Amino acid sequence: MPRRTVVTGSASGIGRALKEQLRARGEEVVGVDLRDAEVVADLSTPAGRADAVAAVRELTGDRIDALVTCAGVSEPSPLMVRINYFGTVEVAQALRPVLAASDSPRVAVVGSIAGTQPFDEETTRACLDGDEDAALARATALGERGAGYSVYPSSKRALATWARRTCVTAGWADAGIALNVVAPGVVLTPMTTWLFEDPAMREVMDAAVPMPLNSYAPPEAVASVLGFLVSEANTHVTGQVVYVDGGAEVSLRSDDLF
Ligand code: NAI
Repeated sequence: MPRRTVVTGSASGIGRALKEQLRARGEEVVGVDLRDAEVVADLSTPAGRADAVAAVRELTGDRIDALVTCAGVSEPSPLMVRINYFGTVEVAQALRPVLAASDSPRVAVVGSIAGTQPFDEETTRACLDGDEDAALARATALGERGAGYSVYPSSKRALATWARRTCVTAGWADAGIALNVVAPGVVLTPMTTWLFEDPAMREVMDAAVPMPLNSYAPPEAVASVLGFLVSEANTHVTGQVVYVDGGAEVSLRSDDLF
């Protein structure tokens, strides 16, 4: 039976490239997105997430081997905590028992190089506490005082931290589920098109995310790393944040990793 992967954000950018790569290698993909997907759902609300999970379970008859969460937004708005963090974590938690029934279950979530950048601790803490109302209130307050730019890094920082904390807890590693984060640098997708239209923005972006290796990435470059992490071949990589960023993380942090 072909391997089956659920991909959120499958209608555009990285999720779409992944869907195409997985299908090209003969695997099944169940896409979840606001449009053009097998499951049309809005992951920004608890009800939308519950509907998405119910529809995925019904469509697949509870046979799922992998989950990749690409759905995300970057416009400064409290929606970033709703979609980037809770829209991933709640779906992953809800599908975990279904995934655990697979012989080779895998989960990969899409973080960002932004997760290494200055972030708002209160937003990140509220996310990790599972308190969506508090995270939203904080994100809204940051926006109102002109600091909405910190919500995106906060949402991605929280996501990477969640994955690292969760991957070895009961029900994950002991059920054979690998759980990793792919953190892209700048990727050429509809999400970033506007950045390239403004030379000043492009300069800011190049300074914030220097990419000496091959510059901006096509979505396929990120998709192929996701594709490995959720393949049967990945038996021992878990809890890792894999930067697909043309050297940005190294340029910014050097040997801080150690
Ligand atoms: P994209 O805008 O091309 O695709 C995002 C997809 O998510 C879209 O199909 C959109 O409809 C879907 N989506 C948005 N809100 C949703 C909701 N409420 N419910 C269901 N689906 C929803 O963006 P891209 O670039 O492919 O981004 C994918 C992921 O990669 C995001 O999590 C983003 O934060 C992350 N990322 C992107 C980078 C870039 O430079 N493009 C850099 C670093 C991270």
